[in-house]
Amino acid sequence: MQATKNIKLPTHVAIIMDGNGRWARQRHLPRVEGHIRGMESVREIVTSSCELRIPYLTLYAFSKENWIRPKEEVKKLLELLAHYLVQEIPLMMEKGIRFNIIGAIQDFPKRIRTLLYNTMAQTAKNKKLVLTIALSYGGRQEILNAVKQIAHDIRKGSLLRITEKTFKKYLYTGDMPDPDLLIRTSGEMRISNFLLWQIAYTELYITDVLWPDFRKDAYLKALKVFSTRERRFGMVKEG
Ligand code: FPP
Repeated sequence: MQATKNIKLPTHVAIIMDGNGRWARQRHLPRVEGHIRGMESVREIVTSSCELRIPYLTLYAFSKENWIRPKEEVKKLLELLAHYLVQEIPLMMEKGIRFNIIGAIQDFPKRIRTLLYNTMAQTAKNKKLVLTIALSYGGRQEILNAVKQIAHDIRKGSLLRITEKTFKKYLYTGDMPDPDLLIRTSGEMRISNFLLWQIAYTELYITDVLWPDFRKDAYLKALKVFSTRERRFGMVKEG
């Protein structure tokens, strides 16, 4: 991709996909239409990440709090997800995408859980892009969950010392690098309980573009801005 030639790209991009509802409202359409269009953005951003050889992409699709949305909307979101899982497997195999989930998978109906596990198993050996979808995900719940497991392992005697490195292993993202870039669409200046531990030194990029309109050109713009950021990880710059 010429537009990103010679620029420093992130290893891990995380995205809070926001604004589907507003996109639909602006067009006097039902909210689900926003999610359907948002799905097309998911496809385009996944494909662009492959083309750019970005190895990790993590998308916030459904939060722990999203369960309290109207029943019909939740049903439609689950349908879209199921459709995506069935439809996209050939593309994932062709492009070398490993499908991964973070979050409380047990919250989902059995039919969806089976699809999720099958897709993870089928794509497990793919190496080009780890596509992680956060589902029924909450950062605080993830941290609590890690703490409970750590307490259990300490009691059992299988864990002796707790360091940042060992703590990280107990998170859903245990074997993944932390995100270098977090993109949030539709202008809200919030983290919304997403990857709380992992984004300690992540660069933030917030755009007013609504998720259904967030396509390749908007993605390239975010990546260009990222390439100009100077990352210090809390250290003082020498010289
Ligand atoms: C935020 O918009 C978006 C969501 C809660 C869902 C995102 C889901 C998709 C794009 C489709 C499914 C995705 C996958 C990966 C299968 P909002 O409804 O909160 O918008 P608003 O803030 O404007 O109301």
